[in-house]
Amino acid sequence: MSVSLEAVGHRFAGGPWLFRGLTDMITEGEVVALVGPSGSGKSTLLSMISGWVTPAEGKIHLEARTRSSDNAPGSQPTLTIAWVFQNPHGVPGRSVLDHVALPFLAKGFASKDADVKARSLLSDFCLDQVADRPFKTLSGGEAQRMLLARALASHPDILLVDEPTAQLDQRTAAHVADTLTALRNRGLVVLIATHDPHVRDRCTRVIDLAAYASEEEVA
Ligand SMILES: Nc1ncnc2c1ncn2[C@@H]1O[C@H](COP(=O)(O)OP(=O)(O)O)[C@@H](O)[C@H]1O
Ligand SMILES: [Mg+2]
Repeated sequence: MSVSLEAVGHRFAGGPWLFRGLTDMITEGEVVALVGPSGSGKSTLLSMISGWVTPAEGKIHLEARTRSSDNAPGSQPTLTIAWVFQNPHGVPGRSVLDHVALPFLAKGFASKDADVKARSLLSDFCLDQVADRPFKTLSGGEAQRMLLARALASHPDILLVDEPTAQLDQRTAAHVADTLTALRNRGLVVLIATHDPHVRDRCTRVIDLAAYASEEEVA
């Protein structure tokens, strides 16, 4: 599994170049911090890797891995991308457990097995206590962690996370940073857009978009 970036640059129509000449290869096992000032294009680069935005120049190539254990029998190997947005959203009246069990059900697991797997993931994010509560009762930080657990439930090849600790208190932020960076060497690529030095310092590597900022003036 890898994400290869070949001389990638981007500008929105009529706007300035956000970054240019970004060449990199992110391989499975890496947890990469994507840093750079606000407006440098971090969220945009995540959108390009997920295929929502086409880069103005250069190429992005995603290479799938060979899948095994966590798939239901008979399922096809496909490249799965999970994205955790900056603003957590969910179905207000549905339980936390249901949110995280859904990807397992979608993959064909029986309801009981899906719940067991979901509870285990919730536990990884210290959400055991809130598993049976409706989504709408969660704090912002709990909702954020629930969405991280849900993203992992889809057993992604690539996990894209946008500012995961922005709205968390320091202690919860440290825990989320630990949980995310513990994903290194687990066979997936994790890319985290972040301003948080604690997250950055725990990652296996840093890509700084400031290093690719274009010096060209707006034409
Ligand atoms: N769809 C869009 N159309 C035009 N400009 C956009 C669009 N999305 C983002 N931008 C602009 O691109 C710049 C980079 O945005 P973004 O990727 O969100 O930066 P970051 O995540 O690093 O703060 C910002 O100036 C933003 O306003
Ligand atoms: Mg952003």
